[in-house]
Amino acid sequence: MAGDEVDSWWSEGALYQIYPRSYQDTNADGVGDLPGIIQRLDHLQWLGIRGVWLSPVTVSPNADFGYDVADFCAVEPSLGNMTDLEELVAEATSRGMKVLLDLVPNHTSIEHPWFEESRSSRDNPKRDWYVWADPKPDGSAPNNWVSSFGGSAWTLDEVTGQYYLQNFLPEQADLNWWSDEVRAEFDRILRFWFDKGVAGFRIDVAHMVVKDKELRDNPPATSDDPFLDQIRGQLPVYNSCRPEVHDVHRRFRAIADSYDPPRVLIGETFLPNIEDVMPFYGTGDELNLAFNIPFLHTPFEASALRDMIERTEALIPDGCALVWTGSNHDVPRFPTRWADGDPDRARCALVMLMTLRGSLFLFEGDEIGMVDTPLVPEQMADPISIRYYPVYGRDGARTPMQWTGAPGAGFTEPGVEPWLPFGDLTVNVEDQRRDPESFLSLCRDLIGVRDALPDLRNGAYASLDAPEGVLAYQRGERTVVALNLGAEPARLGGVTGTIRVATRRSRDEERVDGTLALGPGEGAVVLLDVLPG
Ligand code: GLC
Ligand code: CA
Repeated sequence: MAGDEVDSWWSEGALYQIYPRSYQDTNADGVGDLPGIIQRLDHLQWLGIRGVWLSPVTVSPNADFGYDVADFCAVEPSLGNMTDLEELVAEATSRGMKVLLDLVPNHTSIEHPWFEESRSSRDNPKRDWYVWADPKPDGSAPNNWVSSFGGSAWTLDEVTGQYYLQNFLPEQADLNWWSDEVRAEFDRILRFWFDKGVAGFRIDVAHMVVKDKELRDNPPATSDDPFLDQIRGQLPVYNSCRPEVHDVHRRFRAIADSYDPPRVLIGETFLPNIEDVMPFYGTGDELNLAFNIPFLHTPFEASALRDMIERTEALIPDGCALVWTGSNHDVPRFPTRWADGDPDRARCALVMLMTLRGSLFLFEGDEIGMVDTPLVPEQMADPISIRYYPVYGRDGARTPMQWTGAPGAGFTEPGVEPWLPFGDLTVNVEDQRRDPESFLSLCRDLIGVRDALPDLRNGAYASLDAPEGVLAYQRGERTVVALNLGAEPARLGGVTGTIRVATRRSRDEERVDGTLALGPGEGAVVLLDVLPG
């Protein structure tokens, strides 16, 4: 089956996203920092994590909390310094873990010195590092493009009388990837971090980096188009997924592959259709992994999930690896989004993520089943969460990691106000470590089973016929996974073996003789008996 050849730490292991501001604060300013991440590496090692991706740690005025970069090769002072980062890489390495950083090539902060130069005059040498265009004769924006965050994608610069492109916030000016100088500069940035031993990058909005050279208008969306496009009123034909973006990815990949060991590139391909994600693997010469956002947006219901998993499996190019994720810093956490706070369904989701073919990214807090923290706008920091409240928000998933139930949550000193409010502290690492039936114990045991069973690491995926409401599949020769996502008890035939891990932990090691019975919200990983002969 396609993909079997790929075999490395990033293609089958459990990986973990850290949102640094919310992981661990060590200097009592209410904001997580790099020394805090170092302190928590033992937790990640204990859990069985192979690699961590840090959301941006580079200098940022924090209009978009790190995703507006003002210096790509220096550490944001509120998070620490370069020595901390080097120590983090060394300490992770000594625990058998890799460190991935976040690369934001689509745009910079408007406070980046490049942009300050670029905007200073029309004939500045860096003018064409960004996308500048004249107003229309009536003074309006150069074309109809809409920002991913809503509103026009153009901001008028009064001084030089031209508009600059900003596909996200007005504080995030889009770079011009038609410029050879911009490309060369990013070659340098990649090498700067790879030379420091950074194992690779998660690439922010990887699919959008190159824009139409002629800046043509986008066509209107119709009622058949994806929901987000309907909201924006247009299809992002000319500011997203341009054919030329693949040249940039091949260029990044050539640099990553020139290192020993090769560095890994993981793209944030935030696209509504899986068919549009797959081209970003190229022919094994572009991204190593492309995030499957369509899967994350699939309703948590057996037939829809089965369909999405099968399509993904069918479409992955030969020699490429899959990656699954249920949460990240831009969407509601999976125990909220998929499971609506139901702990049994959240456990099933975890079993699914851990047993699909490929690697997976947990988002910090996923291991304890953290749900989104309900916030009102006055408590929020993210301008997008405030703008779209209560329809959509990102801060609910970004509240601090819950290490203990005590004041400060083990995240910061008691009495210090965290940058975002704490969630429900009865859900915390300390308590769950003591409880063999906790979400955390389930998570760690699932990672252990993945590591122990070659079937789960790289065995082929095959859907199994199952009663309505049950998602069931076989991995490799002997491993069956069954999740009852329906409201009724269900029975799956043709299963003879031993339960390795069940969501209801008292069923671990239970014998199954022909039929696996699952209550509503129950799931199990079963090791089939070896047939004689
Ligand atoms: C990506 C990031 C998101 C950010 C946006 C602009 O989608 O994940 O957090 O706001 O890019 O950089
Ligand atoms: Ca701090």
